[in-house]
Amino acid sequence: MTKRGSETERAKRAVILISGNGTNMAEIVKAQRRGDLDADIALVISDNADAPGLRRAEGFGCRTAVTPYAAGVPREENERGILEAIAQSGADWIVLAGFMRILSGDFVRRFPGRIVNIHPSLLPAFPGAHAIKDAFMARADFTGVTIHIVDELVDHGPVIAQEEVPILPGDTLETLEARIHAVEHRLYPKTLQALLNEDL
Ligand code: GAR
Repeated sequence: MTKRGSETERAKRAVILISGNGTNMAEIVKAQRRGDLDADIALVISDNADAPGLRRAEGFGCRTAVTPYAAGVPREENERGILEAIAQSGADWIVLAGFMRILSGDFVRRFPGRIVNIHPSLLPAFPGAHAIKDAFMARADFTGVTIHIVDELVDHGPVIAQEEVPILPGDTLETLEARIHAVEHRLYPKTLQALLNEDL
């Protein structure tokens, strides 16, 4: 019997953390609305008040929170706002969708195995904030998309899905980015559905 069939089990509750465009967040919310993702998207959190993704989330009617980071302050201190927002939301899963801050070990240890990240390369190749450009500049034959559980190292942790994306002879950085994002948008909602509903 699936979790959905159980009367006592409520849908998994997730918060989505973003920093920028929020196109992956949008695809996750759309999948949930279509009935392809059994999850409650309790809150969309951004560290950046100007993130276009916040407007997208509001457009979907999602609850949003902004938890800005201050310069020169320890990570743990900057994370307090996020932790409070998560606690209030009652979420048990944290979905990183273009969240461009490194989480502290303290943060990660609070949610063991419950933080998921998407990264635009085939990890461990091309970690970091410019993975698509780095693969393009390295003239690699292929790159890809990785979805993984977050551990205490950066862009690291158990891989739950990976898909290769070829770098074609005529590619520009823009055409490569567009193909990688298309893969992300298909793969992330589908992988979350399997992960949150224990089909992985
Ligand atoms: C995505 O390509 C995601 O894989 C990447 O940021 C982009 C966010 O796009 N994440 C990382 O590079 C994390 N290291 P979006 O805001 O439109 O979803």
